[in-house]
Amino acid sequence: MKKIEAIIRTDKLEDLKRAFSTKGFTHGMTVSQVLGYGKQIAFTEYVRGQKIETTLLSKIKIEVVCIDEEVDEIVNVIINAVKTEEVGDGKIFVQPVERVIRIRTGEEDNLAL
Ligand SMILES: Nc1ncnc2c1ncn2[C@@H]1O[C@H](COP(=O)(O)OP(=O)(O)OP(=O)(O)O)[C@@H](O)[C@H]1O
Ligand SMILES: [Mg+2]
Repeated sequence: MKKIEAIIRTDKLEDLKRAFSTKGFTHGMTVSQVLGYGKQIAFTEYVRGQKIETTLLSKIKIEVVCIDEEVDEIVNVIINAVKTEEVGDGKIFVQPVERVIRIRTGEEDNLAL
């Protein structure tokens, strides 16, 4: 099992949810509001006419745990849904998951996904 963690633009969350639903994915998903920066560490922002140097941008983090065989398809769906080709499109991290337990039933691993 793997956890796919994607940091995406906040305004792309609805597009991504629609893409998952169109594909008929029944996975659960966790969504968080996060702050972060990538390669372009500092950028300039204007707040009430005042120029400020900002480092942290508001982003959305989504997490989906799935079986190994589904990783490539999910990664491709995410890319197609959120890519603009401008800097700041985000990043996807794929990590191993050791164990999954559905609390209600005690089912484990693939049966619990
Ligand atoms: N190495 C990293 N580790 C953890 N989080 C990261 C990393 N790189 C990017 N992120 C997260 O992803 C968000 C978006 O990153 P971003 O797309 O700007 O990456 P980038 O490497 O600068 O690529 P680009 O040049 O396309 O902007 C960041 O705000 C941060 O939350
Ligand atoms: Mg960047």
